Amino acid sequence: MDVRIGLIALFCLMGFTCADPVKYVDCGSSTGKVSIVDINPCSSQPCQLHKGESYSVNVTFNSAVESQTSKATVHGIIAGVPVPYPIPNEDGCKSGIQCPIKKQQTYHYLNSLPVKSEYPAIKLVVKWELKDDNDQDLFCIKFPVQIVN
Ligand SMILES: *[C@@H]1O[C@H](CO)[C@@H](O)[C@H](O)[C@H]1NC(C)=O
Repeated sequence: MDVRIGLIALFCLMGFTCADPVKYVDCGSSTGKVSIVDINPCSSQPCQLHKGESYSVNVTFNSAVESQTSKATVHGIIAGVPVPYPIPNEDGCKSGIQCPIKKQQTYHYLNSLPVKSEYPAIKLVVKWELKDDNDQDLFCIKFPVQIVN
């Protein structure tokens, strides 16, 4: 077995929080570059999201621009159609990022992904964007999730 996977499994068994990096697709980050996406808890891929629970999201990215503001927009793509997905706080500057955003600096964008109990138990793709002052994507990521009961 891969030693790294073995160690992660061991950590998880020991009760540490195990946030494996999530497999994501970059959907056009233009003024930043994403390095790691963590969803917690997410022990399998796609992440299984239980209704009524909330998941923490941690996107590590490097900014290529300066920006006073940052605003997140989230969509759930269901059968190819993007549907706005409400998140608790759209302001990136209140989500782990110290604004103004500086050039060539690495940031951890931290937010939560609440899963309402009235959501249907389906697979969907979450598209998460963080926009800078000029409405350009500091990051744009897509990752699949599965909503379960
Ligand atoms: C976010 O992820 C980065 C990279 O894995 C990590 O260094 C940082 O501690 C994480 N932050 C939180 C609050 O989990």
